[in-house]
Amino acid sequence: MPNTTFSLHSPLDMHIHFREGAMLRRVAPLSAETFAGGVIMPNLVPPVDNQVRLDRYDREVREVVEPLAFEPYMTLFMRPYTESELASMKDRIIGVKLYPEGVTTHSEQGVGDLGDVEDTLDLMQDLGIRLMVHGESTDFVMDRERAFLPVYENLARRFPRLHIVMEHITTREAAALLDRHENLSATVTLQHLLITLDDVAGGLLNPHLFCKPIAKRPEDRDALLALALDAHPGLVFGSDSAPHPVDKKECAGCAAGVFTAPIALQMLVGLFEEHGALDRLQAFVSDNAKRIYDVDPPAKTVVFAKTGAAIPERYGDVVPMYAGRDLEWKVAEVR
Ligand code: DOR
Ligand code: ZN
Repeated sequence: MPNTTFSLHSPLDMHIHFREGAMLRRVAPLSAETFAGGVIMPNLVPPVDNQVRLDRYDREVREVVEPLAFEPYMTLFMRPYTESELASMKDRIIGVKLYPEGVTTHSEQGVGDLGDVEDTLDLMQDLGIRLMVHGESTDFVMDRERAFLPVYENLARRFPRLHIVMEHITTREAAALLDRHENLSATVTLQHLLITLDDVAGGLLNPHLFCKPIAKRPEDRDALLALALDAHPGLVFGSDSAPHPVDKKECAGCAAGVFTAPIALQMLVGLFEEHGALDRLQAFVSDNAKRIYDVDPPAKTVVFAKTGAAIPERYGDVVPMYAGRDLEWKVAEVR
């Protein structure tokens, strides 16, 4: 008998872009409906990098998601911080996100030289504040993550008590690092488990699959998928769902970001079922994250039914990944 329903408990999305204002109000409920919590990225304009901005953003996010029993885990944008700044914000954040300068959307104020944040990393290690990293260099676009891997290894060795998250890994070499350093964990997105560069640019260009880091080769995708299907204990789901208005995607100079929030869980259920790994999905989308990040999200059960549904063409002015395609599984109930 094939499965016709399937349930997940308190699924977590450990890497999301909610934005602010009208975009936040449009997209955040789509995550909060089904996820029990998530890590909210700080790359706003200007970035979330001080107490006033953090307080304000935290309040704005909570107002939208709290009625839906969703715990937002807030982050700070990396810059050199003083000890008193970090000490005063430590309990309000799940980590500090490091963007190398200029590698992705709204990273203009990112870190140009890692030496500038050495002292901050030392303080974070002492205060027990996690480091989350967009691990790309400015080399040739397909090589940017690989070129950054020695930086991860160096950080992991030099700050052995610092928990370092390699965000949205896209290569098999990054995946292999998970088994080499105890203080490294990683997030992986839905799109990097499903697509390769061919899906983005192999035929007609698909701007809705264009993100940073760019999707890589089949062998990279397959290595990431194998780790996810196995629910590797160092790997968690982080959608990197990154909404942009359609006119910023369907244009010359397309913004990087794939919007997956409303379809991520349904697609993951289908993907894990296809590979006979449904029994591992709970660990991949919740249990691993609870353990690695030491979080206790609200109780929420999401029941999926294998009855099919079409992915909407638009959510307001945002086009989701695979718009118009059929989903095998849909969300039947959330309780
Ligand atoms: O594709 C991406 N979009 N990658 C990122 O790192 C940032 C994100 C965004 O904020 O749009
Ligand atoms: Zn991101």
